[in-house]
Amino acid sequence: MPREIITIQAGQCGNSIGSQFWQQLCLEHGISQDGNLEDFATEGGDRKDVFFYQSDDTRYIPRAILLDLEPRVIHGIQNGPYKNIYNPENFFVGSQGSGAANNWAAGYAAGDTVQEEVFDMIDREADGSDSLEGFMLLHSIAGGTGSGLGSYILERMNDRFPKKLIQTYSVFPDTQGGGDVVVNPYNSLLAMRRLTQNADSVVVLDNGALSRIAADRLHVQEPSFQQTNQLVSTVMSASTTTLRYPGYMHNDLVGIVASLIPTPRCHFLMTSYTPFTGDNVEQAKTVRKTTVLDVMRRLLQPKNRMVSTTPSKTSCYISILNIIQGEADPTEVHKSLLRIRERQLATFIPWGPASIQVALTKKSPYLQNTHRVSGLMLANHTSVATLFKRIVVQYDKMRKRNAYLEGYRREAPFADGLGEFDEARAVVTDLIGEYEEAETESYLDPEKGKEKAEGS
Ligand code: GTP
Repeated sequence: MPREIITIQAGQCGNSIGSQFWQQLCLEHGISQDGNLEDFATEGGDRKDVFFYQSDDTRYIPRAILLDLEPRVIHGIQNGPYKNIYNPENFFVGSQGSGAANNWAAGYAAGDTVQEEVFDMIDREADGSDSLEGFMLLHSIAGGTGSGLGSYILERMNDRFPKKLIQTYSVFPDTQGGGDVVVNPYNSLLAMRRLTQNADSVVVLDNGALSRIAADRLHVQEPSFQQTNQLVSTVMSASTTTLRYPGYMHNDLVGIVASLIPTPRCHFLMTSYTPFTGDNVEQAKTVRKTTVLDVMRRLLQPKNRMVSTTPSKTSCYISILNIIQGEADPTEVHKSLLRIRERQLATFIPWGPASIQVALTKKSPYLQNTHRVSGLMLANHTSVATLFKRIVVQYDKMRKRNAYLEGYRREAPFADGLGEFDEARAVVTDLIGEYEEAETESYLDPEKGKEKAEGS
Protein backbone atom coordinates (compact mmCIF):
# COMPACT_ATOMS: atom_id res chain seq x y z
CA MET A 1 0.00 0.00 0.00
CA PRO A 2 1.54 3.33 -0.95
CA ARG A 3 1.94 5.92 1.76
CA GLU A 4 0.89 8.85 -0.38
CA ILE A 5 2.20 12.37 0.04
CA ILE A 6 0.37 15.41 -1.27
CA THR A 7 2.48 18.42 -2.20
CA ILE A 8 1.14 21.92 -1.77
CA GLN A 9 3.18 24.64 -3.42
CA ALA A 10 2.42 28.26 -2.57
CA GLY A 11 3.67 31.53 -4.05
CA GLN A 12 6.38 32.31 -6.58
CA CYS A 13 9.18 30.47 -4.82
CA GLY A 14 7.05 27.46 -3.83
CA ASN A 15 5.80 26.96 -7.36
CA SER A 16 9.19 27.51 -8.95
CA ILE A 17 10.93 24.94 -6.75
CA GLY A 18 7.92 22.64 -7.07
CA SER A 19 8.03 22.72 -10.83
CA GLN A 20 11.72 21.72 -10.83
CA PHE A 21 11.03 19.00 -8.29
CA TRP A 22 8.37 17.43 -10.52
CA GLN A 23 10.62 17.60 -13.55
CA GLN A 24 13.32 15.83 -11.57
CA LEU A 25 10.92 13.11 -10.37
CA CYS A 26 9.67 12.56 -13.92
CA LEU A 27 13.24 12.11 -15.16
CA GLU A 28 14.08 9.74 -12.32
CA HIS A 29 11.01 7.56 -12.82
CA GLY A 30 11.04 7.58 -16.63
CA ILE A 31 7.83 9.57 -16.91
CA SER A 32 7.48 11.67 -20.07
CA GLN A 33 6.44 15.31 -20.19
CA ASP A 34 2.90 14.13 -20.88
CA GLY A 35 2.84 11.77 -17.92
CA ASN A 36 3.29 8.56 -19.94
CA LEU A 37 5.80 5.95 -18.92
CA GLU A 38 8.73 6.04 -21.35
CA ASP A 39 9.38 2.85 -23.35
CA PHE A 40 12.75 2.46 -21.66
CA ALA A 41 11.27 2.71 -18.16
CA THR A 42 10.95 -1.00 -17.57
CA GLU A 43 13.18 -1.51 -14.53
CA GLY A 44 10.51 -1.42 -11.84
CA GLY A 45 11.43 -1.51 -8.16
CA ASP A 46 10.46 2.13 -7.74
CA ARG A 47 7.34 3.39 -6.08
CA LYS A 48 5.81 6.06 -8.25
CA ASP A 49 2.49 6.05 -6.40
CA VAL A 50 3.77 7.95 -3.36
CA PHE A 51 3.98 11.15 -5.37
CA PHE A 52 1.89 10.36 -8.49
CA TYR A 53 -1.41 8.71 -9.24
CA GLN A 54 -2.54 7.22 -12.51
CA SER A 55 -5.37 8.72 -14.47
CA ASP A 56 -7.93 6.59 -16.33
CA ASP A 57 -5.72 6.65 -19.40
CA THR A 58 -2.80 5.46 -17.17
CA ARG A 59 -0.86 8.71 -17.31
CA TYR A 60 1.02 9.67 -14.15
CA ILE A 61 -0.27 12.82 -12.47
CA PRO A 62 1.56 14.52 -9.59
CA ARG A 63 -0.30 14.69 -6.29
CA ALA A 64 0.35 18.43 -6.36
CA ILE A 65 -1.70 21.52 -5.63
CA LEU A 66 -0.37 24.77 -7.04
CA LEU A 67 -1.49 27.95 -5.32
CA ASP A 68 -0.65 31.58 -5.94
CA LEU A 69 -2.26 34.96 -5.54
CA GLU A 70 -0.72 36.27 -8.75
CA PRO A 71 -0.69 34.43 -12.04
CA ARG A 72 2.83 34.82 -13.47
CA VAL A 73 4.61 31.70 -12.21
CA ILE A 74 1.59 29.42 -12.49
CA HIS A 75 0.92 30.62 -16.03
CA GLY A 76 4.55 29.87 -16.80
CA ILE A 77 4.03 26.30 -15.58
CA GLN A 78 0.76 26.00 -17.53
CA ASN A 79 2.58 27.00 -20.69
CA GLY A 80 5.82 25.15 -20.00
CA PRO A 81 7.08 21.78 -21.23
CA TYR A 82 5.47 19.86 -18.33
CA LYS A 83 2.12 21.60 -18.59
CA ASN A 84 0.26 18.37 -19.30
CA ILE A 85 1.35 16.39 -16.27
CA TYR A 86 -0.58 18.43 -13.71
CA ASN A 87 -4.25 17.95 -12.94
CA PRO A 88 -5.79 21.14 -14.39
CA GLU A 89 -8.22 21.23 -11.47
CA ASN A 90 -5.31 21.63 -9.05
CA PHE A 91 -4.23 25.10 -10.10
CA PHE A 92 -5.47 27.96 -8.01
CA VAL A 93 -4.74 31.61 -8.79
CA GLY A 94 -6.42 34.24 -6.59
CA SER A 95 -9.08 36.12 -8.53
CA GLN A 96 -7.59 39.52 -7.69
CA GLY A 97 -4.37 38.42 -9.29
CA SER A 98 -2.22 41.05 -7.63
CA GLY A 99 -0.31 38.85 -5.20
CA ALA A 100 0.25 39.63 -1.55
CA ALA A 101 2.74 42.45 -2.17
CA ASN A 102 5.39 40.88 0.05
CA ASN A 103 3.07 41.26 3.01
CA TRP A 104 2.51 38.21 5.23
CA ALA A 105 -0.70 39.73 6.58
CA ALA A 106 -2.17 40.16 3.09
CA GLY A 107 -1.36 36.54 2.26
CA TYR A 108 -2.79 35.32 5.56
CA ALA A 109 -5.95 37.41 5.18
CA ALA A 110 -6.43 36.08 1.64
CA GLY A 111 -6.53 32.64 3.24
CA ASP A 112 -10.00 33.37 4.62
CA THR A 113 -11.34 34.26 1.19
CA VAL A 114 -9.79 31.43 -0.75
CA GLN A 115 -9.89 28.65 1.81
CA GLU A 116 -13.04 26.97 0.58
CA GLU A 117 -11.70 26.45 -2.90
CA VAL A 118 -8.25 25.50 -1.68
CA PHE A 119 -9.49 22.96 0.86
CA ASP A 120 -11.83 21.47 -1.73
CA MET A 121 -8.73 20.66 -3.76
CA ILE A 122 -6.84 19.34 -0.77
CA ASP A 123 -9.79 17.20 0.36
CA ARG A 124 -10.26 15.83 -3.15
CA GLU A 125 -6.61 14.82 -3.32
CA ALA A 126 -6.75 13.33 0.19
CA ASP A 127 -9.89 11.33 -0.68
CA GLY A 128 -8.10 10.03 -3.76
CA SER A 129 -5.37 8.41 -1.66
CA ASP A 130 -5.62 4.93 -0.14
CA SER A 131 -3.39 5.53 2.82
CA LEU A 132 -2.37 9.14 2.94
CA GLU A 133 0.78 9.69 4.96
CA GLY A 134 0.95 13.44 4.90
CA PHE A 135 1.64 16.70 3.15
CA MET A 136 4.63 18.63 1.93
CA LEU A 137 4.39 22.41 1.75
CA LEU A 138 6.85 24.20 -0.55
CA HIS A 139 7.16 27.94 -0.02
CA SER A 140 9.39 30.84 0.89
CA ILE A 141 8.85 32.58 4.20
CA ALA A 142 10.09 36.03 3.15
CA GLY A 143 7.30 37.22 0.84
CA GLY A 144 3.52 37.46 1.17
CA THR A 145 1.83 34.46 -0.39
CA GLY A 146 4.07 31.49 0.44
CA SER A 147 4.65 32.94 3.87
CA GLY A 148 1.18 34.28 4.79
CA LEU A 149 -1.15 31.98 2.87
CA GLY A 150 1.27 29.16 3.71
CA SER A 151 0.87 29.99 7.43
CA TYR A 152 -2.91 30.03 7.12
CA ILE A 153 -2.92 26.64 5.43
CA LEU A 154 -0.57 25.14 8.02
CA GLU A 155 -2.89 26.21 10.83
CA ARG A 156 -6.01 24.83 9.17
CA MET A 157 -4.31 21.58 8.18
CA ASN A 158 -3.71 20.76 11.83
CA ASP A 159 -7.45 20.93 12.56
CA ARG A 160 -8.46 19.16 9.39
CA PHE A 161 -5.88 16.39 9.22
CA PRO A 162 -4.68 16.06 12.81
CA LYS A 163 -3.15 12.63 12.27
CA LYS A 164 -1.25 13.41 9.09
CA LEU A 165 2.35 14.48 8.96
CA ILE A 166 3.19 17.92 7.66
CA GLN A 167 6.64 18.50 6.33
CA THR A 168 7.68 21.77 4.76
CA TYR A 169 10.55 22.78 2.53
CA SER A 170 10.90 26.38 3.60
CA VAL A 171 13.15 28.84 1.80
CA PHE A 172 14.48 31.43 4.23
CA PRO A 173 15.77 34.81 3.04
CA ASP A 174 19.45 35.64 2.91
CA THR A 175 19.75 36.93 6.48
CA GLN A 176 23.42 37.84 6.08
CA GLY A 177 23.28 39.60 2.74
CA GLY A 178 20.15 41.61 3.45
CA GLY A 179 17.70 39.74 1.25
CA ASP A 180 15.60 41.17 -1.53
CA VAL A 181 12.41 41.84 0.43
CA VAL A 182 12.82 44.73 2.89
CA VAL A 183 10.17 43.46 5.26
CA ASN A 184 11.44 39.89 5.21
CA PRO A 185 12.16 39.91 8.98
CA TYR A 186 8.46 40.63 9.66
CA ASN A 187 7.21 38.00 7.26
CA SER A 188 9.77 35.43 8.34
CA LEU A 189 9.05 35.83 12.04
CA LEU A 190 5.30 35.51 11.54
CA ALA A 191 5.73 32.41 9.40
CA MET A 192 8.29 30.93 11.81
CA ARG A 193 5.60 30.81 14.49
CA ARG A 194 3.47 28.52 12.28
CA LEU A 195 6.44 26.43 11.25
CA THR A 196 7.14 25.91 14.95
CA GLN A 197 3.59 25.24 16.06
CA ASN A 198 1.93 23.64 13.05
CA ALA A 199 4.53 21.61 11.15
CA ASP A 200 6.04 18.27 12.15
CA SER A 201 9.25 18.78 10.27
CA VAL A 202 10.76 21.73 8.40
CA VAL A 203 13.59 21.39 5.94
CA VAL A 204 15.30 24.76 6.14
CA LEU A 205 16.98 26.13 3.03
CA ASP A 206 18.30 29.64 2.94
CA ASN A 207 18.87 31.76 -0.08
CA GLY A 208 22.19 33.07 1.26
CA ALA A 209 23.61 29.56 1.56
CA LEU A 210 22.08 28.44 -1.72
CA SER A 211 23.70 31.33 -3.59
CA ARG A 212 27.03 30.70 -1.88
CA ILE A 213 26.96 27.01 -2.78
CA ALA A 214 25.91 27.76 -6.34
CA ALA A 215 28.83 30.18 -6.60
CA ASP A 216 31.40 27.81 -5.01
CA ARG A 217 30.28 24.52 -6.43
CA LEU A 218 28.71 25.38 -9.72
CA HIS A 219 31.11 28.23 -10.47
CA VAL A 220 28.43 30.80 -11.21
CA GLN A 221 28.88 34.17 -9.63
CA GLU A 222 25.37 35.50 -9.63
CA PRO A 223 23.22 32.42 -9.70
CA SER A 224 19.72 32.72 -11.08
CA PHE A 225 16.75 31.29 -9.20
CA GLN A 226 16.69 28.57 -11.80
CA GLN A 227 20.19 27.56 -10.74
CA THR A 228 19.59 27.73 -7.01
CA ASN A 229 16.35 25.85 -7.53
CA GLN A 230 18.34 23.11 -9.19
CA LEU A 231 20.10 22.68 -5.85
CA VAL A 232 16.76 22.66 -4.05
CA SER A 233 15.21 20.09 -6.35
CA THR A 234 18.29 17.87 -5.99
CA VAL A 235 17.88 18.03 -2.21
CA MET A 236 14.16 17.37 -2.43
CA SER A 237 14.54 14.41 -4.71
CA ALA A 238 17.44 12.95 -2.67
CA SER A 239 15.53 13.37 0.59
CA THR A 240 12.60 11.43 -0.85
CA THR A 241 14.59 8.59 -2.48
CA THR A 242 14.06 6.22 0.43
CA LEU A 243 10.31 6.71 -0.04
CA ARG A 244 10.45 6.22 -3.79
CA TYR A 245 12.99 3.37 -3.89
CA PRO A 246 12.10 1.71 -0.63
CA GLY A 247 14.54 -0.41 1.33
CA TYR A 248 13.95 -1.94 4.70
CA MET A 249 14.20 1.30 6.69
CA HIS A 250 13.26 4.96 6.35
CA ASN A 251 10.74 3.97 3.73
CA ASP A 252 7.99 6.22 4.95
CA LEU A 253 7.99 9.82 6.05
CA VAL A 254 7.13 8.97 9.62
CA GLY A 255 10.20 6.71 9.79
CA ILE A 256 12.46 9.52 8.61
CA VAL A 257 10.90 12.12 10.89
CA ALA A 258 10.97 9.81 13.92
CA SER A 259 14.62 9.01 13.43
CA LEU A 260 15.64 12.66 13.16
CA ILE A 261 13.35 14.44 15.59
CA PRO A 262 13.53 13.10 19.16
CA THR A 263 11.64 16.02 20.74
CA PRO A 264 8.78 17.58 18.80
CA ARG A 265 9.75 21.25 18.87
CA CYS A 266 13.29 20.86 17.62
CA HIS A 267 12.09 19.85 14.17
CA PHE A 268 14.08 22.15 11.88
CA LEU A 269 16.41 20.19 9.63
CA MET A 270 19.44 21.24 7.64
CA THR A 271 20.66 19.53 4.53
CA SER A 272 23.97 19.06 2.77
CA TYR A 273 24.48 17.37 -0.56
CA THR A 274 27.58 16.26 -2.38
CA PRO A 275 28.80 16.26 -5.04
CA PHE A 276 26.78 18.92 -6.75
CA THR A 277 26.82 18.91 -10.49
CA GLY A 278 24.76 21.22 -12.60
CA ASP A 279 23.32 20.10 -15.88
CA ASN A 280 24.17 23.43 -17.38
CA VAL A 281 27.48 23.96 -15.74
CA GLU A 282 30.38 22.28 -17.49
CA GLN A 283 33.05 22.99 -14.87
CA ALA A 284 30.92 21.49 -12.17
CA LYS A 285 30.71 18.18 -13.98
CA THR A 286 34.36 17.31 -13.44
CA VAL A 287 34.30 15.50 -10.16
CA ARG A 288 37.05 13.47 -8.55
CA LYS A 289 36.62 9.80 -7.77
CA THR A 290 34.07 9.70 -5.03
CA THR A 291 34.20 7.25 -2.15
CA VAL A 292 31.73 6.77 0.66
CA LEU A 293 34.15 8.21 3.21
CA ASP A 294 34.78 11.17 0.98
CA VAL A 295 31.07 11.82 0.63
CA MET A 296 30.34 11.40 4.33
CA ARG A 297 33.21 13.64 5.32
CA ARG A 298 32.15 16.35 2.91
CA LEU A 299 28.57 16.17 4.15
CA LEU A 300 29.81 17.18 7.58
CA GLN A 301 31.61 20.29 6.36
CA PRO A 302 29.68 23.43 7.27
CA LYS A 303 30.40 24.96 3.85
CA ASN A 304 28.22 22.30 2.23
CA ARG A 305 25.21 23.07 4.40
CA MET A 306 22.29 24.72 2.73
CA VAL A 307 21.69 26.92 5.76
CA SER A 308 23.96 29.74 6.93
CA THR A 309 24.42 29.26 10.63
CA THR A 310 27.07 30.39 13.04
CA PRO A 311 28.09 27.32 15.02
CA SER A 312 29.44 27.94 18.52
CA LYS A 313 31.57 25.80 20.83
CA THR A 314 28.47 24.23 22.31
CA SER A 315 26.43 23.64 19.19
CA CYS A 316 25.99 20.02 18.26
CA TYR A 317 24.07 17.50 16.23
CA ILE A 318 20.85 16.14 17.65
CA SER A 319 20.69 13.54 14.88
CA ILE A 320 21.99 12.79 11.40
CA LEU A 321 20.60 10.70 8.58
CA ASN A 322 22.84 10.21 5.57
CA ILE A 323 21.14 9.01 2.42
CA ILE A 324 23.83 7.50 0.24
CA GLN A 325 23.13 6.71 -3.37
CA GLY A 326 25.22 4.77 -5.83
CA GLU A 327 27.90 2.12 -5.54
CA ALA A 328 28.29 1.81 -1.81
CA ASP A 329 28.44 -1.40 0.14
CA PRO A 330 27.73 -1.73 3.84
CA THR A 331 31.35 -2.54 4.77
CA GLU A 332 32.51 0.67 3.17
CA VAL A 333 29.83 2.53 5.13
CA HIS A 334 30.84 0.83 8.36
CA LYS A 335 34.52 1.72 7.86
CA SER A 336 33.66 5.32 7.05
CA LEU A 337 31.56 5.64 10.19
CA LEU A 338 34.42 4.31 12.31
CA ARG A 339 36.81 6.76 10.72
CA ILE A 340 34.46 9.67 11.34
CA ARG A 341 34.07 8.63 14.97
CA GLU A 342 37.85 8.24 15.46
CA ARG A 343 38.49 11.68 14.08
CA GLN A 344 35.57 13.13 16.04
CA LEU A 345 34.24 14.89 13.00
CA ALA A 346 30.75 15.29 14.45
CA THR A 347 29.79 16.42 17.95
CA PHE A 348 26.49 15.14 19.26
CA ILE A 349 24.10 16.11 22.06
CA PRO A 350 25.07 14.82 25.50
CA TRP A 351 21.66 13.26 26.17
CA GLY A 352 21.16 10.89 23.25
CA PRO A 353 22.88 8.40 20.99
CA ALA A 354 25.81 9.83 19.07
CA SER A 355 25.26 7.97 15.88
CA ILE A 356 25.03 8.76 12.24
CA GLN A 357 22.23 6.81 10.63
CA VAL A 358 22.81 5.71 7.08
CA ALA A 359 20.36 4.66 4.40
CA LEU A 360 21.77 3.13 1.24
CA THR A 361 19.45 3.70 -1.66
CA LYS A 362 19.15 2.96 -5.31
CA LYS A 363 19.75 5.61 -7.93
CA SER A 364 17.41 6.08 -10.82
CA PRO A 365 18.52 3.68 -13.56
CA TYR A 366 17.35 6.13 -16.20
CA LEU A 367 19.70 8.99 -15.41
CA GLN A 368 23.33 9.07 -16.37
CA ASN A 369 25.53 9.33 -13.33
CA THR A 370 28.79 11.16 -13.47
CA HIS A 371 29.90 10.05 -10.03
CA ARG A 372 30.08 6.73 -8.22
CA VAL A 373 28.53 7.79 -4.95
CA SER A 374 26.52 10.80 -3.89
CA GLY A 375 25.00 11.66 -0.57
CA LEU A 376 22.48 13.80 1.18
CA MET A 377 22.70 14.59 4.85
CA LEU A 378 19.53 15.46 6.75
CA ALA A 379 20.69 16.85 10.07
CA ASN A 380 19.10 18.20 13.18
CA HIS A 381 21.74 20.62 14.48
CA THR A 382 21.33 23.09 17.31
CA SER A 383 23.10 25.87 15.39
CA VAL A 384 19.97 26.30 13.25
CA ALA A 385 18.82 28.53 16.11
CA THR A 386 21.45 31.11 15.12
CA LEU A 387 19.53 31.67 11.89
CA PHE A 388 16.36 32.25 13.92
CA LYS A 389 18.26 34.63 16.19
CA ARG A 390 19.32 36.71 13.20
CA ILE A 391 15.68 36.95 12.13
CA VAL A 392 14.66 38.12 15.62
CA VAL A 393 17.47 40.69 15.74
CA GLN A 394 16.50 42.08 12.33
CA TYR A 395 12.85 42.08 13.32
CA ASP A 396 13.62 43.98 16.54
CA LYS A 397 15.53 46.65 14.64
CA MET A 398 12.66 47.33 12.27
CA ARG A 399 9.99 47.10 14.90
CA LYS A 400 11.80 49.50 17.21
CA ARG A 401 11.52 52.16 14.55
CA ASN A 402 7.94 51.21 13.67
CA ALA A 403 9.18 50.81 10.12
CA TYR A 404 6.83 49.64 7.38
CA LEU A 405 3.99 48.79 9.76
CA GLU A 406 1.18 50.52 7.89
CA GLY A 407 0.71 47.75 5.36
CA TYR A 408 0.32 45.25 8.18
CA ARG A 409 -2.06 47.35 10.26
CA ARG A 410 -4.44 47.52 7.31
CA GLU A 411 -4.92 43.75 7.18
CA ALA A 412 -7.31 41.66 9.25
CA PRO A 413 -4.77 39.78 11.42
CA PHE A 414 -3.64 43.16 12.80
CA ALA A 415 -7.07 44.75 13.14
CA ASP A 416 -6.76 44.71 16.94
CA GLY A 417 -3.18 45.86 17.16
CA LEU A 418 0.23 44.37 16.67
CA GLY A 419 -0.21 41.46 19.07
CA GLU A 420 0.42 38.95 16.27
CA PHE A 421 4.00 40.18 16.10
CA ASP A 422 4.55 39.90 19.84
CA GLU A 423 3.12 36.39 19.96
CA ALA A 424 5.25 35.28 17.05
CA ARG A 425 8.35 36.77 18.63
CA ALA A 426 7.65 34.98 21.89
CA VAL A 427 7.24 31.63 20.14
CA VAL A 428 10.45 32.03 18.16
CA THR A 429 12.42 33.19 21.21
CA ASP A 430 11.18 30.15 23.10
CA LEU A 431 12.27 27.93 20.27
CA ILE A 432 15.75 29.44 20.32
CA GLY A 433 15.86 28.78 24.07
CA GLU A 434 14.83 25.18 23.51
CA TYR A 435 17.72 24.61 21.09
CA GLU A 436 20.10 26.13 23.59
CA GLU A 437 18.79 23.80 26.29
CA ALA A 438 19.17 20.88 23.91
CA GLU A 439 22.92 21.48 24.05
CA THR A 440 22.98 20.69 27.77
CA GLU A 441 23.05 17.37 29.55
CA SER A 442 19.97 18.11 31.61
CA TYR A 443 17.72 18.77 28.60
CA LEU A 444 15.52 15.75 29.25
CA ASP A 445 15.64 16.18 33.01
CA PRO A 446 12.00 16.16 34.24
CA GLU A 447 12.91 18.26 37.29
CA LYS A 448 14.15 21.01 35.04
CA GLY A 449 10.92 20.94 33.06
CA LYS A 450 8.97 21.25 36.30
CA GLU A 451 11.02 24.23 37.47
CA LYS A 452 10.40 25.92 34.14
CA ALA A 453 6.67 25.35 34.34
CA GLU A 454 6.56 26.69 37.89
CA GLY A 455 8.63 29.72 36.94
CA SER A 456 6.43 30.64 33.99
P1 GTP B 1 4.00 37.71 -2.97
O1 GTP B 1 4.93 37.93 -4.12
O2 GTP B 1 4.12 38.72 -1.90
O3 GTP B 1 2.59 37.46 -3.39
O4 GTP B 1 4.45 36.35 -2.24
P2 GTP B 1 5.27 35.10 -2.77
O5 GTP B 1 5.17 34.03 -1.75
O6 GTP B 1 4.85 34.74 -4.16
O7 GTP B 1 6.73 35.66 -2.78
P3 GTP B 1 8.07 34.94 -3.15
O8 GTP B 1 7.88 33.46 -3.22
O9 GTP B 1 8.64 35.64 -4.34
O10 GTP B 1 8.93 35.24 -1.83
C1 GTP B 1 9.94 36.16 -1.76
C2 GTP B 1 11.21 35.48 -1.31
O11 GTP B 1 11.37 34.27 -2.01
C3 GTP B 1 12.43 36.30 -1.58
O12 GTP B 1 13.34 36.13 -0.51
C4 GTP B 1 12.99 35.70 -2.86
O13 GTP B 1 14.38 35.83 -2.91
C5 GTP B 1 12.60 34.26 -2.72
N1 GTP B 1 12.34 33.58 -3.99
C6 GTP B 1 11.41 33.91 -4.92
N2 GTP B 1 11.44 33.02 -5.95
C7 GTP B 1 12.40 32.11 -5.64
C8 GTP B 1 12.89 30.95 -6.30
O14 GTP B 1 12.44 30.56 -7.37
N3 GTP B 1 13.89 30.27 -5.67
C9 GTP B 1 14.41 30.67 -4.48
N4 GTP B 1 15.40 29.93 -3.96
N5 GTP B 1 13.96 31.75 -3.83
C10 GTP B 1 12.97 32.46 -4.40
